[in-house]
Amino acid sequence: MKKKANIILTGFMGTGKSTVGKKIADRLGWPFIDTDDLIEEKAGMIVSNIFAKHGEAYFRTLERQVIDNVCRGTGKVVATGGGAMTIEENARRLQESGTVICLTAEPEVILSRVQDNVDRPLLQGADPLGKIRTLLSARAEAYARADIIIDTSHLDIDETVAVICSRLETDLRI
Ligand code: S3P
Repeated sequence: MKKKANIILTGFMGTGKSTVGKKIADRLGWPFIDTDDLIEEKAGMIVSNIFAKHGEAYFRTLERQVIDNVCRGTGKVVATGGGAMTIEENARRLQESGTVICLTAEPEVILSRVQDNVDRPLLQGADPLGKIRTLLSARAEAYARADIIIDTSHLDIDETVAVICSRLETDLRI
């Protein structure tokens, strides 16, 4: 695998992208960027309020702008929101800018990890498990474009970090 400029953590909500990303950044001594944080800064409100006040399309517009910007730099660990790779332009920019690592997990595991968090507007309906399953299958193709895919269902955060670091060492010699 070719060594690339950034390390991008993507994948479904609740798979640990931000927590894992921060730890990898610390290990490498690289800066960490969470695109949802940048979107919140830009909008001046949290993600669930962006969805409630302006709708998902507006959130996706901000997300595209933030990703475009982040992809211009190098030497960063970046965690994206779970829907980022489903937009062709984002997927292309992210793949060009770095090694894309997709974290996955089984639907029940995702539910157990996200159920107490109210800042996940896409999962607030009556049947979150059904919504998780539907979104996972709609997004399967987009997530499969990642360079490295890691199932975190049976891994804790530190185990996930260890698996990623060992892949980065063997595949990229980082
Ligand atoms: C989304 C995931 C969220 C956030 C927004 C939309 C998605 O980020 O970007 O609620 O479409 O899957 P996390 O994956 O960090 O929860």
